Amino acid sequence: MSKLPQRVSIVEVGPRDGLQNEAVKLDAAIKAKLVEKLAEAGLKRIETGSFVSPKWVPQMADSDKVFELVNRRDDVNYSALTPNMRGFEGAVAAKADEVAIFGAASQTFSQKNINCSIEESLERFAPVCAAARDANMPVRGYVSCVLGCPYEGDIAPQQVADVAAKMLEMGCYEISLGDTIGTGTPVKTAQMLEAVLSKVPADKLAVHFHDTYGQALVNIYVALTLGVRVIDSALAGLGGCPYAKGASGNVATEDVLYMLNGMHIETGVDMSSLLKASAFISEHLQRKPASKAANALLS
Ligand code: HMG
Ligand code: MG
Repeated sequence: MSKLPQRVSIVEVGPRDGLQNEAVKLDAAIKAKLVEKLAEAGLKRIETGSFVSPKWVPQMADSDKVFELVNRRDDVNYSALTPNMRGFEGAVAAKADEVAIFGAASQTFSQKNINCSIEESLERFAPVCAAARDANMPVRGYVSCVLGCPYEGDIAPQQVADVAAKMLEMGCYEISLGDTIGTGTPVKTAQMLEAVLSKVPADKLAVHFHDTYGQALVNIYVALTLGVRVIDSALAGLGGCPYAKGASGNVATEDVLYMLNGMHIETGVDMSSLLKASAFISEHLQRKPASKAANALLS
């Protein structure tokens, strides 16, 4: 137990990773309201949108409007996904506080998601990192498919470690390891993290689990025991990835918070305000939250 932290930082990815995969088209004003409600709940890092091709992900085509409409708080970091220089320029124009580049540990997933190989993606990310450095903007790096790929199956932990190390070298201040399709289990998670930790220190890592097979919380627990202190999650368990068929949503922020509260690990997030955000978005999406904690606490 001594290895568990006193404090963990939650990165809320619902407005981006969550809503990018929703069939219901929401107005930018609703998305902006959601972001505000998340900030009210105490979340300090909120992935607010992405600047990607609207042909590839139409749900994010109005991210500029969302950024414009959000009534911002000074102590909250509003970030955006940017696959290339065009995306970076969009994020700068929208006054995003931080950008994220997103690569993969699987060649096939890289092709399907961003239409290039892993090597080509790193070449495209290099100018984004350089421009961000000049603009004094922090860059986060995502590695997708760290515990399995919808096209290739198993992924070697060493491949994850190599891509993560390259992103760190390129200037990312944090690498988020994505179990994009949620196939990871605890021992696999530990083996993958041990490989990554041989190249990237724990204080530069975040974990990003999708909960397809109900393994996300136990995998997060494993990550905590190995020194990871940043967890990505999406309220109401929103999400999925348009290029990862069958993948369900991200681990729900409410479930992560319930677990961390129960372990007396501080997050600064207030459950009752989070539930209000959860009820708000679920009403707009016309379904119940995909979160056991939210459904239990809201009933
Ligand atoms: P491409 O077709 O190879 O690139 O797409 P292109 O340069 O030939 O551009 C194609 C069209 O997109 C052109 O328009 C460009 O102008 C336009 P057209 O001439 O056809 O009218 N375009 C853009 N438009 C707006 N913003 C831009 C932009 N760039 C080009 N930034 C590209 C390459 C990367 C653009 C494309 O593949 C793309 O946008 N992919 C988006 C993929 C995506 O957002 N996936 C979901 C996020 S990743 C994820 O969810 C996983 C994660 O959560 C972690 C995890 O779970 O593991 C992060
Ligand atoms: Mg994701």
